[in-house]
Amino acid sequence: MASSLSQTVFSILLLLSLHQACAEMTHLHFYFHEILSGPNATVLTVVNPSNSTSLTFGTIVVVDDMLLEGLDDNSTLIGRAQGLVGAVGKDGSLESLHNFVFTEGKYNGSTISIYGRVEQGVTIERPVIGGTGMFRMTTGYSLAKPVVVTATKLVYEFDVYLWHMEMKDN
Ligand SMILES: *[C@@H]1O[C@H](CO)[C@@H](O)[C@H](O)[C@H]1NC(C)=O
Ligand SMILES: *[C@@H]1O[C@H](CO)[C@@H](O)[C@H](O)[C@H]1NC(C)=O
Ligand SMILES: *[C@@H]1O[C@H](CO)[C@@H](O)[C@H](O)[C@H]1NC(C)=O
Ligand SMILES: *[C@@H]1O[C@H](CO)[C@@H](O)[C@H](O)[C@H]1NC(C)=O
Repeated sequence: MASSLSQTVFSILLLLSLHQACAEMTHLHFYFHEILSGPNATVLTVVNPSNSTSLTFGTIVVVDDMLLEGLDDNSTLIGRAQGLVGAVGKDGSLESLHNFVFTEGKYNGSTISIYGRVEQGVTIERPVIGGTGMFRMTTGYSLAKPVVVTATKLVYEFDVYLWHMEMKDN
């Protein structure tokens, strides 16, 4: 009797504490700037089996790209996208895995992990497969639209839609 009463009390307390964890939806909008060459290049080719200057089948690059508030080079840096891109498709498609590390404002120190297929030259949709800090237990998706494509620079406009728990202290 005493044990079933304490189980009931425990269940009520558990329900109350779960109630404190609310689902949140967050929309992030920013610009992803990639410098392809020169002293400040944000891309480094690490495997290049066909010695080609483009991303042909088998090429692997590492990136440490800049996340800026705006399209302008001088706009505020809000984070970095660090990861790997591999040319895994004979059709020219790529596979990417990036950690987006935020360094400004309320998301400073929080990260999201974006993984997925990239087709060049079109809006890329990729899953957000997790996160840390403010984005613990995140799922969602990202849309990346190419807005600057030159021989030396790529800029993508990002919209990221995240569903995550906002943990509140009791
Ligand atoms: C590279 O970055 C440094 C430091 O931000 C800057 O002073 C320099 O002008 C940049 N160089 C080029 C070629 O953009
Ligand atoms: C790779 O390509 C560069 C120029 O694109 C050339 O100078 C170099 O000799 C090539 N290396 C090999 C191993 O073919
Ligand atoms: C960015 O800032 C530099 C140095 O302050 C300036 O020369 C350049 O014109 C600015 N670029 C834009 C697009 O505003
Ligand atoms: C972000 O957090 C780091 C580590 O706590 C801190 O050093 C840095 O000043 C913060 N940056 C901003 C812009 O608040």
